[in-house]
Amino acid sequence: MSITVETSDYQQLISHLDYLGLSEIRNNLPQVIDRVQKKELSFLEALLKLTGEEVDQKRVKRQTTSIKMAGLPHLKELKDFDFDFQSSIDRNQIYDLASLHFIENNENIIFLGSPGVGKTHLATSLGIEAAKHRMRTYFTKATDMLSTLRKAKKENRLEAKMKHYISCRLLIIDELGFLPIQKGDEKLLFQVIDKRYEKKSTILTTNIQFSDWGELFEDPRIANAILDRLLHHSHVVTIVGDSYRTKDLIQTTEEN
Ligand SMILES: Nc1ncnc2c1ncn2[C@@H]1O[C@H](COP(=O)(O)OP(=O)(O)O)[C@@H](O)[C@H]1O
Ligand SMILES: [Mg+2]
Repeated sequence: MSITVETSDYQQLISHLDYLGLSEIRNNLPQVIDRVQKKELSFLEALLKLTGEEVDQKRVKRQTTSIKMAGLPHLKELKDFDFDFQSSIDRNQIYDLASLHFIENNENIIFLGSPGVGKTHLATSLGIEAAKHRMRTYFTKATDMLSTLRKAKKENRLEAKMKHYISCRLLIIDELGFLPIQKGDEKLLFQVIDKRYEKKSTILTTNIQFSDWGELFEDPRIANAILDRLLHHSHVVTIVGDSYRTKDLIQTTEEN
């Protein structure tokens, strides 16, 4: 580095940057000073460049942290989704949902379809998008959430645990209906949905047609009350098609 700046000033600047935790500015400082000396950058441009690098790095770090906190099952995004394979899905509708207006409007999304059609993939993609925008997102399988709440109820700490599921900006409840719902759990699910109703967005994935929800729960009246709140202000994405998991298997069978 061909700096004519006083070495002691430079050292002091480095220690200030270390103290302030501005590691990107510190890393980029020598090159930027060099470019200023060559008159390639003005003082203002140099400051802008240095702070810009720091801001970019902080933004990425924050996004990474909120994505981690969301507990998503994988990091597959919309760009990884093959819309041509699943023609029943309206690509524009999904990209429109990815604009996250549904969260601003406290609306829900329900992905309905048989196993392997991409429900969890799409729900996760939207979760990643929300987390990137620093909207607190939480992903849970329905059975995990209900068993956690059931246990908390037994231990007299239901309220605290409930807060966890109610407070996030976007809650993704995956696989409702895959496993039978235990007696009493429908009331816990109702509480979650009711407390989030018109205040926070929920994405639900399920393989159960709405007309069959009565059989999913012990008390069909509660099933109705849950559906009523979920469906009011909601986007229902019904996926009809083959499982992506078995697509190669089907192709091979067809070829033989
Ligand atoms: N249209 C698609 N394009 C790319 N990958 C897909 C598509 N549909 C499903 N997948 C992948 O297939 C697997 C099963 O999809 P998943 O979303 O878990 O299905 P579901 O939740 O409906 O059972 C996942 O690995 C997912 O990423
Ligand atoms: Mg799934």
